[in-house]
Amino acid sequence: MNNNYTLIKDIFLERDGVGDFVSMDKSTLAYHKIISALQKPLKLILFYGKPGSGKTFLLNKIKNDLEKKVKVVFFPQPFFEEKEFFNELYFHIFDKKPKKNVDTYESFMRIYKDYINVNSKSLEQVVILLDEAQLYPPNLIEKIRLMADSRLFKFLFTVHKTDEEDVLAKDYFKTRIWSSIELPNSTLSELKLYIEKKLVYHNFYQYFLMYSEDNFNLLHYLTDGNLRNLNKLLYKLYELFEYYEVNKPTEISTTNINNKFIEMAAIGTGIIDA
Ligand SMILES: Nc1ncnc2c1ncn2[C@@H]1O[C@H](COP(=O)(O)OP(=O)(O)OP(=O)(O)O)[C@@H](O)[C@H]1O
Ligand SMILES: [Mg+2]
Repeated sequence: MNNNYTLIKDIFLERDGVGDFVSMDKSTLAYHKIISALQKPLKLILFYGKPGSGKTFLLNKIKNDLEKKVKVVFFPQPFFEEKEFFNELYFHIFDKKPKKNVDTYESFMRIYKDYINVNSKSLEQVVILLDEAQLYPPNLIEKIRLMADSRLFKFLFTVHKTDEEDVLAKDYFKTRIWSSIELPNSTLSELKLYIEKKLVYHNFYQYFLMYSEDNFNLLHYLTDGNLRNLNKLLYKLYELFEYYEVNKPTEISTTNINNKFIEMAAIGTGIIDA
């Protein structure tokens, strides 16, 4: 079984990396806010948004763009132990494993300060991007704050905000040293742009023309602008088309998409119940 739908389906597979970056208004806005916050003397920056809004994706792009100019460390996975955090940080900053373990904040800072004294790199701030920061234990966050106080490091904390748990209300996120930037879920027009660009990037623009306003409305309604769920749903939708094209070609149109298929795909992905 192999047809155009096989190829289109794969466009919506989740991949890491910055390929296929779509400049939706919200991502461009958040991108510029983050870049400008990183240039200000703020010590800690909080970047938050609902799951699937595109935070990790944007962080990858920020890392790629920034590392041409400054030293950037990106930790996509959270750390639970001080020891692992500082050993890993050492590894990323110096591109080699520490000779002896750097198990604490104090030992790390001692080594780092010696290094900048010898190399007179004091003005060069290291930017550290932390993803899934809501999972770091409070004692490690405390150490991170101390690091930021030294002004040798600048941190961007990325946290995923769910409706139940408002991270901004947590004690250590309340202080004034934070600048906070939100990445909202996609609007209806951003969702359209997303689908359009993804198809255009892979030379399938004619398949974008099959979508109607009704289709977009339903997709937005079903996913609430969560791009991860949208990817899942579209993957499933094209998987259905792939099957129909081979087995029941008379049931699908080549010019439009029946909402019935979008609903079937939503059931297939578990986004709605049958
Ligand atoms: N600007 C963008 N351009 C293209 N694709 C995007 C963009 N933003 C997000 N995506 C797509 O949406 C998917 C989900 O985004 P991402 O993993 O960044 O969400 P998240 O906000 O980090 O979610 P969580 O809070 O659950 O970690 C990505 O894998 C990617 O396919
Ligand atoms: Mg993420």
